[in-house]
Amino acid sequence: MRAGPAILLALVAGTALAQTPQGPALFHGADLALGEKLIKDAKCEACHARRVGGDGSAIYRPQGRINTPGALRGMVDYCSTELNLGLFPEEVTAVAAVLQRDHYRFPAAASAPSR
Ligand code: HEC
Repeated sequence: MRAGPAILLALVAGTALAQTPQGPALFHGADLALGEKLIKDAKCEACHARRVGGDGSAIYRPQGRINTPGALRGMVDYCSTELNLGLFPEEVTAVAAVLQRDHYRFPAAASAPSR
């Protein structure tokens, strides 16, 4: 079930090279329907809600530590590994893309590495 780092790198490099009409290149072509399903199945919001109240979305802070598309994807990767979800790289990207669309809304320029 685990994809090797080489596959992950190839995927990230491939998506980063793709030009996007809008939004960060990292999330271009991501399967948003799959991401929504994975978020629902993993009950991400339920756990976040226990921590911050409401619908749990207050945990997503674009101005905080997670302030680039890469950091967002990295956090989803970390969380899903902690939760033993066994997600494929493209599934991690799909989940991050949904959070990008609904909460973080990073501009396309933010996908460039910020040193
Ligand atoms: C068992 C509880 C739990 C579950 C389930 C969980 N999370 Fe989290 N998550 C947390 C906690 C706690 C934090 C806050 C960490 C901190 O910054 O203190 C967090 C933070 C985050 C952040 C960073 C928010 C920010 O802007 O700083 C992201 C992104 C995130 N979670 C994504 C997910 C996703 C996607 C899932 C489902 C696949 C998920 N989490 C499931 C507990 C959980």
